[in-house]
Amino acid sequence: MVPIHLKQPWKLPEQQVTPEEVYLKRRDFLKTMGRASLGAAALLMLPPGLSRLWAATNDTPSSPLLTPSSESTVSRYNNFYEFGTVKDRIWKLAESLNTGGWQIEVGGLVRKPQMLDAEKLIRKMPVEDRIYRLRCVETWSVVVPWTGFPLKVLIDQLEPLSGARYVKFTTFLDPNIARGQRSRFWEPWPYTEGLTLEEATHDLTFVATGIYGHSLPPHHGAPLRLVVPWKYGFKSIKSIVKIEFTKEEPETFWQSVSPLEYDFPANVIPHQPYARWHQEFERIPGQKGTVKTKLFNGYAKQVAHLYK
Ligand code: MTE
Repeated sequence: MVPIHLKQPWKLPEQQVTPEEVYLKRRDFLKTMGRASLGAAALLMLPPGLSRLWAATNDTPSSPLLTPSSESTVSRYNNFYEFGTVKDRIWKLAESLNTGGWQIEVGGLVRKPQMLDAEKLIRKMPVEDRIYRLRCVETWSVVVPWTGFPLKVLIDQLEPLSGARYVKFTTFLDPNIARGQRSRFWEPWPYTEGLTLEEATHDLTFVATGIYGHSLPPHHGAPLRLVVPWKYGFKSIKSIVKIEFTKEEPETFWQSVSPLEYDFPANVIPHQPYARWHQEFERIPGQKGTVKTKLFNGYAKQVAHLYK
């Protein structure tokens, strides 16, 4: 199918796309962050002034946190907690995720509850390219070229009922292959996320089925994942198996794990206080220093009205 290229004001020029090898290198960067995770956890116990100082100190370009690691490490590094916290093994372990015959259950307050066959769905949906910024709550950011379709197109076909106000998404549950799901520390599995129906049907909200011109590999959330560019990356849930329309705000994975740290909207609002570090700057893997984080990750014009 020929990709449709829509001219939209939020479109990023292709020059701004993070090259694939740089995009992968951010995993190395994260590994370095991981080494500091004990310190990060301890931050929760520090008074706000001190934690800000810690974060500011670690923002300097000469900080060891920014020291690049080897490429072999980088290419085996991912953020997919189902496959554990040993980040340089996740890429490999995620390969065991068999996406053949993948089914997505649609239910709740919807006129057409059904089981969707992922492969058929991907073939039938319109294909679009979207170049989006991705801003992680861990303070790194990248620019990623996705392929997929707007979630709104699917939601319109499913026909939510008038009482539906939220959409809940669920990732697969299979502790036999995703050993991270055996961990009591990260309960409750499976990973869930949610959006208001208004957010879910916003033009920017995207279902990614491909990345860098090829289909989505397991570690990026095959066969399909959400991409919500004005929210922190954890809202962009991977490997979805269930979509539910609800009246009440659904509880999400990270809210259950750490309610003081994560809120439901999780919009990128740099000046909003955050429990562990400040969010005013972000690091771009492969570049020195930091840049200022943009309100709503640069998509304020498109989404600010949703929160007035
Ligand atoms: N989805 C699931 N199911 N499990 C996860 O651990 N991590 C989130 C998000 N989606 C995660 C997930 C986080 S914290 C981020 S930053 C992005 O995925 C990272 O996506 P990427 O690894 O494809 O860049």
